[in-house]
Amino acid sequence: MRIIENSQELARACREAARPVGLVPTMGALHAGHLALVERARQENETVAVSIFVNPTQFGPQEDLAEYPRPLDRDLESLRQAKADLVFTPTVAEMYPPGFDTWVDVGRLATLLEGAYRPGHFRGVATVVTKLFNLIRPDHAYFGQKDGQQTLVIRQLVRDLHLGLDIVVVPTVRDPDGLALSSRNVYLTPEQRRAAPVVYRALWRAAELWKEGERNAPRLRQAVQQVLAGEPLIERIDYVSVADTATLEELDAVLDRAMVSVAVRFGELRLIDNIILG
Ligand code: PAJ
Repeated sequence: MRIIENSQELARACREAARPVGLVPTMGALHAGHLALVERARQENETVAVSIFVNPTQFGPQEDLAEYPRPLDRDLESLRQAKADLVFTPTVAEMYPPGFDTWVDVGRLATLLEGAYRPGHFRGVATVVTKLFNLIRPDHAYFGQKDGQQTLVIRQLVRDLHLGLDIVVVPTVRDPDGLALSSRNVYLTPEQRRAAPVVYRALWRAAELWKEGERNAPRLRQAVQQVLAGEPLIERIDYVSVADTATLEELDAVLDRAMVSVAVRFGELRLIDNIILG
């Protein structure tokens, strides 16, 4: 496994690499969710590249950039075991040298849900992912359904800018109690951790009702809200959405498919999760 910090060197290594090349972009603090992406990439590519970069431009001024976990040695060990070939670990100066001033702005999709609560977030994501795609030129890139809106933003970007690679979305990996794995889960207090599976239970409630024939989206949203409201450690519900799986426009009725997504706050910590109906 080759560890590369320099972007020119990375581009050279990728030009010489056996194809197809699969890319797994991450911010590190790797867990079984990330490793499921690497495993899928391993199955489908001759060369697997993983990037570890805590991208400052996707964090808001009040967010946890400085505190974001960075256990690099442990991450590299996990990637060795997962048989990654190339690991790109650039510095901030490598990705954003002085004078950097070009941004990738995805339109409406990036203004909804997470975009409304985290202004500029998807601009940072789209910009860094475009840079990674241009440096690595992967045939396939792997993203988690955990960040459902992010996968749609990336697909839009790839389509609109003719980036010509294939985006693969991998199912959300969960703890046995349903909590979606996230690098930020380590910030939960033991009490909050015990309460956190309520997020998945709330999503499940919508799935149950849907299976029983409920098609009315306001009633589905209300059922999710109700489950979340039963947990006193949730200090705020940012949104409960039942939306079109392609446009993320809120639905009145769920006719075939929908993404049910929520964002809640346990103290300072925001948890997001989603499931697909249909
Ligand atoms: P990060 O949060 O590190 O996540 C990297 C990838 O792992 C994303 O595609 C995310 O959806 C996926 N992932 C996270 N938790 C998962 C889980 N429980 N199951 C399955 N997949 C999971 O997302 C980012 O980084 C950044 O925005 C990035 C795309 C790297 C751009 O900076």
